[in-house]
Amino acid sequence: MGNTYKIAIIPGDGTGPEVVREGIKVLNASAKKHGFKLDMTEFDYGGDRYLKTGEVLPETAADDLKKFNAIYLGAIGHPDVKPGILEKGILLKLRFELDQYINLRPVKLYPGVETPLKNKGPQDIDYVVVRENTGGIYTGIGGISMKGTQNEVAIQSMVYNRFQVERCLRYAFELTRKRNKNNTLALVGKTNVLTFVYDLWERAFHEIGKADYPDIKREYYHVDATCMWMVKNPEWFDVLVTGNLFGDIITDLGAITQGGMGIAAGGNINPEGVSMFEPIGGSAPKYTGKNVINPLAAICSGAMMLDTLGETTASDEIEQAVMEITANKMKSLDAGKMGYSTSEIGDMVAERVA
Ligand code: IPM
Ligand code: MN
Repeated sequence: MGNTYKIAIIPGDGTGPEVVREGIKVLNASAKKHGFKLDMTEFDYGGDRYLKTGEVLPETAADDLKKFNAIYLGAIGHPDVKPGILEKGILLKLRFELDQYINLRPVKLYPGVETPLKNKGPQDIDYVVVRENTGGIYTGIGGISMKGTQNEVAIQSMVYNRFQVERCLRYAFELTRKRNKNNTLALVGKTNVLTFVYDLWERAFHEIGKADYPDIKREYYHVDATCMWMVKNPEWFDVLVTGNLFGDIITDLGAITQGGMGIAAGGNINPEGVSMFEPIGGSAPKYTGKNVINPLAAICSGAMMLDTLGETTASDEIEQAVMEITANKMKSLDAGKMGYSTSEIGDMVAERVA
């Protein structure tokens, strides 16, 4: 008998529930085939719950979620709620409270998928961004004083300590080794201007690399230049590691080079605790309830979840099934232009996996 995994499901807002439904379909097909069990419990966190109850997240949410093996999330963000409330109050709060200090975002162009990059194919676009996920300017202290006056001051500081930087770098080195592709880890920073924060990152990077990962080649790129090379020479990259804000920005660029938000998967990882998997696109209110949104990003996030749980064969099979479908079936990855509905795509992946 295979393992039983307790999975918390947070469908969330907008198209989140639609894509999560297809992800669950695929996960269950895979579980059945491989003989493991997924014991799922749904949580209603999101905009609708907030509008109804006035509460963004229950006090006990993080503690409740700690009892699970993993969390599978759709999307957070509601058109009737002021930007920031749900994003900070649910998504970021869970990342921080569950200490999911890695945001793992593969940038991989699947066969048959159109990329806006000229003359680039699947052999050129295949790298992973390791984004630090619990620190930096996202959690740094700040505030506004004399608000609304000509003397108004706003401060939001980028704060990192050695511990946060080091655990993120070590994760990235380990991943680079495990991936065993080019054995090259590139630090993305801004040492020419952020001469304190990225100086810390750079020193830690070389110290740790020299001492414990002599087999891994180290490179450094400024973040602005990284954006250029991600467009012009994505084949240079194997694993990139960077702070929270830069990681947020460059992974949207990465996502569009792999075909857009319909395919971009991610995981908020706590290597010693509970991780949370989510498609990196938002709640897409425009497409909600129409059965036209692309569920592949959610399905691929589900595959990442299985990988983290140790079900690596099951995870690889889902990715293979997705690749077959992008190569042979889908006209486009964009909502409404796929040639299939949301649920038909889910069915196709589930059938292949089964
Ligand atoms: C992401 C999102 C979030 C972030 C927002 C919604 C808070 O953009 O997951 O990339 O900035 O991390
Ligand atoms: Mn983002």
